[in-house]
Amino acid sequence: MQVDLRILRFDPEQDTRPHWERYKVEAEPTDRVLDLLHRGEVRPGRHACTFRRSCAHGICGSDAMLINGRNGWPARSASISSVGARMTVAPAAGSAGREGPRGRHGGLLRQVPAGHALPRRRGAGSGAGTAPVAGRGRARYDDTTKCILCAACTSSCPSFWAQPEYIGPAAIVNAHRFIFDSRDEAADERLEILAERDGVWHCRTIFNCVDACPRGIKITQAILEVSGAIVERRT
Ligand code: SF4
Ligand code: F3S
Repeated sequence: MQVDLRILRFDPEQDTRPHWERYKVEAEPTDRVLDLLHRGEVRPGRHACTFRRSCAHGICGSDAMLINGRNGWPARSASISSVGARMTVAPAAGSAGREGPRGRHGGLLRQVPAGHALPRRRGAGSGAGTAPVAGRGRARYDDTTKCILCAACTSSCPSFWAQPEYIGPAAIVNAHRFIFDSRDEAADERLEILAERDGVWHCRTIFNCVDACPRGIKITQAILEVSGAIVERRT
């Protein structure tokens, strides 16, 4: 079958703004969108379209982009036969498109405050060995441990588009993973950062982030749990 593929492109050496380019690509009905992006028709020589793919097996989520206007992953998306013979591919809305639908995750991840990604264990240095998890245990934060920090959630969040200072769901999910771990002794510090002006309060429970997450994490629930912990800490 032949696919009518339109890609939003941007060449920083020639273009002042992104533009659509059209390709006719031969495809098997079982091909993934990623297979199409690798075809010679789309990657002719030095005008190759740049995009992220990393693991290329639908696990890492680094290839998040808009497919037919919806958040998707070219390595994971269903076969071409179900996506359709007419297709558009563009960067995720919150990431700036450069040479093609690559997006820029570095800018999104700057929102992960220093130290959030590292646990600070109670009793560290005391020689206590492996510390057990107290209370409700791991079940409390099990879901957020699945995060791979791909930032697809933040780049798909309308609140982040409107307010790029918003710390964003990726950072909150990563903080959640430690805040509710009884062994972490920096929970207060993390909550303080998240309670700031650009913290959790920008979330309007829009749920785009949940649709975009390749790990199926209940992001909105995690954000509400963090907001609840901030309020609880203040009362
Ligand atoms: Fe990626 Fe999901 Fe983690 Fe967001 S919560 S960074 S979408 S894995
Ligand atoms: Fe954004 Fe997700 Fe909240 S899309 S507004 S972080 S529920």
